[in-house]
Amino acid sequence: MSNAVASYLHFMGAALVKLRQTGAIVPSQRFLIGKMLAPIPETYTGQILELGAGSGALTVRLAARCPKARILACEINPALARATRHNLDLAGINGRVEVISDSAQHVISEMSRRGKGKVDYVLSGIPLGALPGDRAQAIIDAISRVINPGGMYIQFQYSLIDRKRVRSRFKILRTVPVLLNFPPAVVYYAQR
Ligand SMILES: C[S@@+](CC[C@H](N)C(=O)[O-])C[C@H]1O[C@@H](n2cnc3c(N)ncnc32)[C@H](O)[C@@H]1O
Repeated sequence: MSNAVASYLHFMGAALVKLRQTGAIVPSQRFLIGKMLAPIPETYTGQILELGAGSGALTVRLAARCPKARILACEINPALARATRHNLDLAGINGRVEVISDSAQHVISEMSRRGKGKVDYVLSGIPLGALPGDRAQAIIDAISRVINPGGMYIQFQYSLIDRKRVRSRFKILRTVPVLLNFPPAVVYYAQR
């Protein structure tokens, strides 16, 4: 079995056990990943935070695109966090990506508690739409606090359900549909 197929099956297994938390039954595919990564310069040398890494579909492409960036990826499901580490190893990407098996909320609060500073880019696949509104808003609020002025929050979602919530914390918001993905998605590009 090829690694790509194994990775899909792994993700689907996690999704079937925790569908609401996983928010999708297959990992993101290349057009969506391309749209998520497009605003980040290949020469970027700072720190990027990825929330909800799943099995690492986006993480691996991000690390390959931005070889000088430091990447912190978090994933709440320990089995998927292990899959992300495994897929990074298979891609020969070691050291530059730290994968934490924890919730986005906890990772962000630890970053500020330890004075780790802010980031220029937050990429997120967290299924906000599957959460109660107040929890989705709390995550968006936390993201807005960890981003540097001028930085960008990039989120994908399968609907526009959280548009108003994102807009309440980010003055500039552009949404782009990505039809060539299963399921079709929308990418939010948000700046304060
Ligand atoms: C729709 S999947 C996206 C996975 C991957 N980024 C991709 O594009 O294929 C969402 C992921 O977010 C994770 N997740 C859900 N809630 C989370 C939270 N509060 N903190 C961190 N990860 C979370 C899920 O376990 C799942 O792997």
